[in-house]
Amino acid sequence: MSVQTRAFLTAAQQLASDYLGAMGNRWRHTQGVAERAGELADALGLDHDTLVAAAWLHDIGYAAPLKVTGFHPLDGADHLTAHGWPLSVAARVAHHSGARYVAAARGLRERLLASYPYEENVLSDALTYADQTVGPDGGRVTATERHEEMLLRHGPESVNAQVDHLRGPFLAAVAERMEAALRRSRIAS
Ligand SMILES: [Fe+2]
Repeated sequence: MSVQTRAFLTAAQQLASDYLGAMGNRWRHTQGVAERAGELADALGLDHDTLVAAAWLHDIGYAAPLKVTGFHPLDGADHLTAHGWPLSVAARVAHHSGARYVAAARGLRERLLASYPYEENVLSDALTYADQTVGPDGGRVTATERHEEMLLRHGPESVNAQVDHLRGPFLAAVAERMEAALRRSRIAS
């Protein structure tokens, strides 16, 4: 790992720790997602720095000092762009795990897309898949288990439940694409 890479990832980890380190499960989940993202980057030959930095930072918008809109992907991404983090990281944070579907229900879709263009590619999929295969306490789960647990936790009246007819199939499609890519990488190695 180059010195430059180490410094970038250390800065991402440090920033995440500053904002989420005292938040119990939120921090355990973040650590689990970063570890999972690193594994996916290595298995699939993806841009390790961008993916792992985005994984460390994907939930920082939950930290109380960063709350502006109350929509954590957008608040987190705005904090990152305001502090000079690359758009490739901020946009992944803004769009992780189908955030655009939830943003639409919260009246924030235009604002999200105006600042952070949505890119559908394997790197974006990998961050979403890492987030969707690590549970709230940092333990590994399947994407299906995570989805069921999320709906239960947020409840039937939640925005997450309201948009699940759109976001659910999107998350399932991401999991399918990633699992196919992982199978191919195992066959090739
Ligand atoms: Fe997360």
